Amino acid sequence: MTTLLSVEDLHVSYGKMEAVSGVSLDMQAGQIVTVIGPNGAGKTTLLSALMGLLPCKGRSRYESDDLTALSTEERVRRGICLVPERRELFSDMTVADNLILGAYTRWRERRAVQADLDEVFRRFPKLAERRRQLAGTLSGGEQQMLALGRALMAKPRLLLLDEPSLGLAPLIVREIFRIVVGLRELGVSILLVEQNARAALETADFGYVLETGCVVHSGPAAGLAHDPRVIASYLGGKVEPSS
Ligand SMILES: Nc1ncnc2c1ncn2[C@@H]1O[C@H](COP(=O)(O)OP(=O)(O)OP(=O)(O)O)[C@@H](O)[C@H]1O
Ligand SMILES: [Mg+2]
Repeated sequence: MTTLLSVEDLHVSYGKMEAVSGVSLDMQAGQIVTVIGPNGAGKTTLLSALMGLLPCKGRSRYESDDLTALSTEERVRRGICLVPERRELFSDMTVADNLILGAYTRWRERRAVQADLDEVFRRFPKLAERRRQLAGTLSGGEQQMLALGRALMAKPRLLLLDEPSLGLAPLIVREIFRIVVGLRELGVSILLVEQNARAALETADFGYVLETGCVVHSGPAAGLAHDPRVIASYLGGKVEPSS
């Protein structure tokens, strides 16, 4: 396996307040890696820093390059794509136009963009049915699908997903995570930030637990899902007293 992303001792601050305090993480190409943790743990801050949207200290490498030397635009061109927590769709534009805007870095390749649009509509039949509907009138689940579809239009190699399950009913959450697994099969590597620890650990290959800016546990996702400390804090289970 090849290492796609390697972050070492990352620190991110808002003024005097440090929100990410020495995080290290690794991602292999083709993996789904999840970062779970409670409100305010620093998950969104971590993704913003990886996108180059916030200044940070520490070392990070993407493929064989120093990530910190790349501007946000260069990161986008290199295939890093963020699907933000609030989805940030263009609500007064149609589903189809939102998707086409996802390919803005490739606007010269009209034929390829059209083919990709057809592929996204094949993958998300619900979006195809609603291609002329305004994005702002979609349901929450459909908006999340549109956000994922728009990200796919950028031909990402590394997708940073910020709480794709936020505000969605359990059945839709399952559908969204099935889509995420489908993206891995396409060869996209995924860094999945989630508060829904159960769904995230069922989906991911490897996981990190972030609390107040620090990684407190990490390991293969299946192992974390059976770790009594993770169960007690994040999976709503009881830890049996050891005798
Ligand atoms: N722009 C900002 N200015 C100052 N403090 C901020 C800013 N953004 C986030 N913070 C603080 O940084 C800490 C981490 O926030 P962050 O949004 O990264 O958490 P999170 O893990 O994504 O939480 P949630 O699960 O609620 O989305 C919090 O204490 C938050 O109040
Ligand atoms: Mg967040």
